[in-house]
Amino acid sequence: MKENYWLGKVEDFASSQHIVKLIKSSFYNEKETKLALVDFIMNTDRLSMGEECLKFETAFSKSQKRDFSVFVSSGSMANLLLLQALMNLGRLKLGDKVGFSALTWPTNVMPIIQLGLVPVPLDCSPKTLNVTPDHLQEVADDIACLFLTNVLGFSDDIKKIAKICKSKGILFIEDNCESLGSKVGETLLGNFGLASTFSFFVGHHMSTIEGGMICTDDEELNRALVMARAHGWDRNLSPKEQAKLRDKHDIDDFYARYTFYDLAYNARPTEINGFLGNVQIKYLDEIVKKREANFKTFLAAIKKNDDFVAFDLSHMSRVSNFAMPVTFYDPKTSQHYKKRFLDAKVEIRPIIAGNVTRQPFYQKYSKKVAAYPNSDAAHLNGFYFGNNAEMSPVEIDLLCKLLEK
Ligand SMILES: Cc1ncc(COP(=O)(O)O)c(C=O)c1O
Repeated sequence: MKENYWLGKVEDFASSQHIVKLIKSSFYNEKETKLALVDFIMNTDRLSMGEECLKFETAFSKSQKRDFSVFVSSGSMANLLLLQALMNLGRLKLGDKVGFSALTWPTNVMPIIQLGLVPVPLDCSPKTLNVTPDHLQEVADDIACLFLTNVLGFSDDIKKIAKICKSKGILFIEDNCESLGSKVGETLLGNFGLASTFSFFVGHHMSTIEGGMICTDDEELNRALVMARAHGWDRNLSPKEQAKLRDKHDIDDFYARYTFYDLAYNARPTEINGFLGNVQIKYLDEIVKKREANFKTFLAAIKKNDDFVAFDLSHMSRVSNFAMPVTFYDPKTSQHYKKRFLDAKVEIRPIIAGNVTRQPFYQKYSKKVAAYPNSDAAHLNGFYFGNNAEMSPVEIDLLCKLLEK
């Protein structure tokens, strides 16, 4: 039999020899969730996008304190759809420059390139791993949009970033795939810009196996997102909105269901993902709080050891991350701690995708790469380990010991 390379290596999965894994389980309360899923599948007539997805969107809007949520097949598709919808509405145009965090995941940047926009990387602060207002000021007169990543539950001075965007007429959107539940003041990350994206991939704050969400308070953008999610047709719009579009384009009843108004994808989730979202969202507060408590424990351990670059997140009222990044002043010290973690069978990895402008895809499509020293430092002198909501005290103790000098 041929080897299934696409499944990944054995050590990536459950049989891994790691004592503390990056992804501990597929779901919070895994057993109950799987049992409920079996029951749901056996008793439902519909598995394609339907009531469960709609119910999850409503619940997510309420928990994120947003007017609209559009559930999609992944966080990556959420990013692509958001930019596509903004282009469909004419709020972004071909060739517009879009600022993004150099320290991010590739599918924050790839849609910028794919849609014919121009990516403008922004460096981060070593104290927050996030883009600062000063970094933004350097390009503020040049960019039409800022697609900011809130890195691993952290933010920099996001209030000031939002203010600069407003005063300069920059369209501000947030990739919040890593920061569900973190807060500045009373405001949840993901609520500072026009719209924000989320990921529900396994290991993130909550899991629907695969899945993503786009949140906004903008009704017109919500409609464009709903259309961009499914073929560019009007089937998921309200009857009133359908009538308006059909009137405008002079479409009769025979053709109405087969009329395609704008550029789109098929990024629909399934009822399985929707059902899982509805089960997992009931645990979301608990998950966020447990990860916040773990984070505080790890941060306290880091503060006692001056080998680590110190974080300054005092402006944040809540940090809840699904993984804990650590960075060092030089590669040698980083290597020393990497070995220590790996010898203790704790799974670690680079911080997100490191400085994404170093990635081959970025080099291929965007030649002019300047230096982003702080993103480089995170890339070269750092790593992250998991922060799971169901970590045992033994696992937490082990991690704290490894963080000692
Ligand atoms: C910042 C960021 N954006 C987007 C994504 C993509 O999300 P997904 O894996 O659901 O496609 C990730 C994935 O972890 C991410 O970290």
